[in-house]
Amino acid sequence: MRTDDDSWDITESVGATAVGVAVMRAVETQRPDALYRDPYAAKLVEAVGSGWSKLIGGEADLDPERARVYGSVRSMMTGRTVYIDEYFGTVVAAGIRQIVILASGLDARAYRLEWPSGTVIFELDQPKVLEFKATALAQDRPAADRREVPIDLRQDWPKALRESGFDATRPTAWLAEGLLRYLPAEAQDRLFDNIAELSVPGSMIALNMGFGQPQTRNPEIRAAREKMMAQAGIRMDVENLWYGTENRTDPRDWFGAHGWKVSASDVVTVLTEHGREVSDEVRADLRSHILMTAARP
Ligand SMILES: C[S@@+](CC[C@H](N)C(=O)[O-])C[C@H]1O[C@@H](n2cnc3c(N)ncnc32)[C@H](O)[C@@H]1O
Repeated sequence: MRTDDDSWDITESVGATAVGVAVMRAVETQRPDALYRDPYAAKLVEAVGSGWSKLIGGEADLDPERARVYGSVRSMMTGRTVYIDEYFGTVVAAGIRQIVILASGLDARAYRLEWPSGTVIFELDQPKVLEFKATALAQDRPAADRREVPIDLRQDWPKALRESGFDATRPTAWLAEGLLRYLPAEAQDRLFDNIAELSVPGSMIALNMGFGQPQTRNPEIRAAREKMMAQAGIRMDVENLWYGTENRTDPRDWFGAHGWKVSASDVVTVLTEHGREVSDEVRADLRSHILMTAARP
C-alpha cells in the first residue's frame, strides 16, 4: 500500500522494482545477440543479494521456459533501454552536456555510455537507493561527472537539483524511465511543470509509460513467474505499487500542448527495427506501453 510520504531501500517496495529492471538488463546482456550490453547490471543485482541473483543465473534468457516467463517484461526493458540509449546518442550529438536522470535506480548509463568530456549527469532517487548504488559501484569510475541528488520526487527536487550545481541556463536532457506510474497523477503533472520550468530551448526529454497492466495477460505464465519469484524468496507486486492511469495526463499530450516537439514510439517497433522477433503474446502485452521523446524548440 502506497502513502504520500513512503520511502524505501533497494530491497523493498518501489526500490525493489529497480532491481527487477537490473535483472532484465543482466539477462539481455548475457545473450550472444544482445541489443545492448550493461555489464553493471549483474554486479548490482548480485550486490543486492538474497534471491535476486538466482533470476540471472545461467543463460537465463536462452532457457525457453524462463524466456517465456520473463516474456513481455524482458522485451519491454530491452526495447526501452535501446530506445533511451539511442536518445542519449542524439542528445550528445546535439551538444547537450547536462543530463538529469529522474528516478535513476540502478541505471548505469553514467558508467556504461560514452560521454564527451564536460558532461554532467545528475541522478535523482530516494537516498537509500542512491546509497546502495554508490556502495555497489564504489570501485567503478563513471564516464561523466556524476552527481547524486538524494531526494523524493514528490518533494522540492528542483531546489535540491540546483543546490547540486544544476545550471538552468544550459540545455538539459531529461530522462524519466520507469517512473511515472509510481507517482500519483498530480505529482506527475507537477514533475512536468518543474521540468518545463527548468528547460531552456534546446532541452530534450525521454520517457516511457504503460497505460495498461505491465504483467503478462496469460494466467499460466503469470503463475509460473510468481512461482519462480517465490522460489527465489522474492515478493514483489508491481501493480500494487502503481498509481492508476485514470485522470492521468498522457505525456504526449502534455508536452505537445506545452510547445515541445513530440516523437512517440513503442517497444515492439524498436525491437523489430533492431531485428528482434516479438511473439504475438508479447505484442498484446505491450500494446499500451509508450516510448516518447520531446524537444523544446
Ligand atoms: C522501475 S525503477 C526504474 C529505475 C531506472 N529508471 C531504470 O529504468 O533502471 C523505479 C525507480 O523509481 C524510483 N522512484 C519512484 N518514485 C520515486 C519518488 N517519488 N522519488 C524518488 N524516486 C522514486 C525508485 O526508487 C526506483 O529506483
